[in-house]
Amino acid sequence: MSVEITAQELDTEQFINEKVKEIKDAVGDGMAINALSGGVDSSVVTMLGHRALGEQLMTVFVENGLMREGEAEQVAALFQRLGVTVEIADAREEFFAALQGVTDPEAKREAITQTFYRDVFGRIVKESGARCLLQGTILTDVDETVAGIKRQHNVFEQLGIDPQETFGYRIIEPLIQLRKDGVRRVGKALGLPGEQFERIPFPGPALSARVIGEVTPERIETVRKATVIVEQLLKDTGAFQYMAILHEDRVTGMREGRRDFGQQIEVRCWESIDARTATPTRLSFETLEDLAAEIIREVPGVVSVTYNIASKPPSTIEAI
Ligand code: XMP
Repeated sequence: MSVEITAQELDTEQFINEKVKEIKDAVGDGMAINALSGGVDSSVVTMLGHRALGEQLMTVFVENGLMREGEAEQVAALFQRLGVTVEIADAREEFFAALQGVTDPEAKREAITQTFYRDVFGRIVKESGARCLLQGTILTDVDETVAGIKRQHNVFEQLGIDPQETFGYRIIEPLIQLRKDGVRRVGKALGLPGEQFERIPFPGPALSARVIGEVTPERIETVRKATVIVEQLLKDTGAFQYMAILHEDRVTGMREGRRDFGQQIEVRCWESIDARTATPTRLSFETLEDLAAEIIREVPGVVSVTYNIASKPPSTIEAI
């Protein structure tokens, strides 16, 4: 088991030096790959990996079709400014094919895991000749997976899965002793711009963690449009995380004086320090009304908007 380093006891310079050495020793003079999604954890791993390996590290953004509006381009542009070239691998068709007809939350997570690690990265690693993948698994991911709360897409060893055997490459996890607050401190010390290390967390399974029921390109587009609005209207709240979730129900609504069935979006906005527990933000009613009005106006097919007021536990931050 990894020993936790709390944000309070973390000495960022010492941590960075140690991890740089560990990564160098593990990779030697070979090539390594890292998967950058643009989230806090993978951004910090990218910077750490580049400090350790320079040109020996190839950074790949997997376009899985499940990301937020404009995400691939924004992430690539930001890292280009930091001197890191990001390759974009288009795997949209593979992900949607794997998710077709899948409605069970754990089965969805498993479909994404297999497509990502076995199919997409299996191929990229093989083509590049790399032997290891660097990734930003953190202690909260491990805890929740081991406790059986939620199988995080990036946890293997703790479940008795050997990536070398299963996927054909090694996985290095330099952030595994940290929680989100510690990762942010390391990101700052590595020179990531505030906009990046202060970003709200975004899960590995991306928007598919926010679609209840089957994940299709159309349903992702609906939640993506709602996400733009929620992120825009809540960005100044200082909340830990906020999101839109697409429900599966057909809700009765009315359009042009007639009954019409439509879709329902749930908004969540969380106060949390480390994602282990969370409480809903006490948004003003005015803000809630603005969210509802804009979502209904801008997102085709949506006739109902709700706000989640349950805490974690028993809720979890994401819906899936
Ligand atoms: P939950 O939903 O378990 O989320 O309360 C806790 C935190 O973890 C994020 N999350 C994930 N992060 N891979 C990740 O890297 C995942 O599969 C995943 N699922 C949830 C979530 O956004 C929240 O910040």
